[in-house]
Amino acid sequence: MRSTGSYVTTTTLGEAVRAFVPLALPPASPPLAAESHTAANRRAEMALARLGGVAGLVPSVDWLLYSAIRKEALLTSQIEGTEATLTDLFDDEAGQVLANTADVEEVTNYLRAFRLVRDNLRSEAGLPISVRLLCDAHRLLLDGARGAGKQPGELRRSQNWIGGARPSRAAFVPPPPDQVPGLLADLERFIHDPAPALPPLPPLVRVALVHVQFETIHPFLDGNGRIGRLLIAALLEHWGLLSEPLVYLSSYLKQHQAEYYRRLSAVRTEGDWEGWVGFFLDGVEAAATDAERGIVAMASLINADRKRLLATPRVGAVALRLFELLPLMPRFTIEQARQKLDTTFPTATSAVKLLQDLGLLTELTGQKKNRLFSYAAYVELLAGGP
Ligand SMILES: Nc1ncnc2c1ncn2[C@@H]1O[C@H](COP(=O)(O)OP(=O)(O)OP(=O)(O)O)[C@@H](O)[C@H]1O
Ligand SMILES: [Mg+2]
Repeated sequence: MRSTGSYVTTTTLGEAVRAFVPLALPPASPPLAAESHTAANRRAEMALARLGGVAGLVPSVDWLLYSAIRKEALLTSQIEGTEATLTDLFDDEAGQVLANTADVEEVTNYLRAFRLVRDNLRSEAGLPISVRLLCDAHRLLLDGARGAGKQPGELRRSQNWIGGARPSRAAFVPPPPDQVPGLLADLERFIHDPAPALPPLPPLVRVALVHVQFETIHPFLDGNGRIGRLLIAALLEHWGLLSEPLVYLSSYLKQHQAEYYRRLSAVRTEGDWEGWVGFFLDGVEAAATDAERGIVAMASLINADRKRLLATPRVGAVALRLFELLPLMPRFTIEQARQKLDTTFPTATSAVKLLQDLGLLTELTGQKKNRLFSYAAYVELLAGGP
């Protein structure tokens, strides 16, 4: 059996525990068996390439990103137990007051953290993928009530543990805090100068390795799962596997949560890197295929609805423009539509009315004032997906 690290005894909450200190990547003695991942890696890469291809089915990639990023934000937060839905997010953006504010805040915090990372990676003056950037993302992720007291934006300074009410009962005790910076520096090095591994490791396999290593280091007091999954998305883009973050892997990880945790542990306890890599690659393939199916369904819905609209004799330019705004504004008030269309209230109202008469928009409140409109078929399609 290959060794993946060593144990040191530390004390936390007055109990002696054995903390695990992982070896630096890549797996060695023996190196990762290529035959264990070559076929699955090819299938996953192909699925990502197909996904990149169907993105051209809609006029704007932003339409796809709007829902893909929100789904990932939701699902990654749901692994933690956050209860918010896609329609909550849409309602929040439509300025509605929601009951589960803390849950929605957690999801919108993930969106902010995700945008920060993308913006940095895309700008020349921005930070590269680095501990500093992940700390900045963590600060946004844990912003607000729930994160206070969890040292947002900072590496942990105390010994933590995973699972179990007491450290001595833990499923896993990550490395002592004084080792965290050094371990992260090794991880950063693995990401940026891929030492010529023999045989060379395909980028998706490297992403898989990085995720486990990050979770094993568990550098923050909380939010390690979410930052670790954000890092997956960032690396997919950074290593050119997908030009836009259209895939939401958290759906797969949530569906297979027990196996996800079990395989993370098995790397440490049994040296089973191959098992994890296979699981991860299958996940990428499944998630990319789901995302592709979702995009095809979305494109055909929008195209069919647009056709119906264009075939309507009364349709004017404002109504058409409103329709094209819907994919980025699936729920909205008349005032929001008015602002986006940069027009008067009566003009916005009659455009909304036209789309409502055609059955494209549904009014949700039943009120006379502060009405809320929904592109219902579209919302249903997005929310009903995996
Ligand atoms: N046995 C394990 N070994 C290593 N890492 C694990 C193990 N079990 C779970 N994890 C990782 O730890 C994460 C949970 O850590 P933490 O609570 O800091 O993150 P989070 O983002 O707040 O939570 P969550 O991932 O549940 O949403 C899991 O998502 C998983 O990635
Ligand atoms: Mg947590």
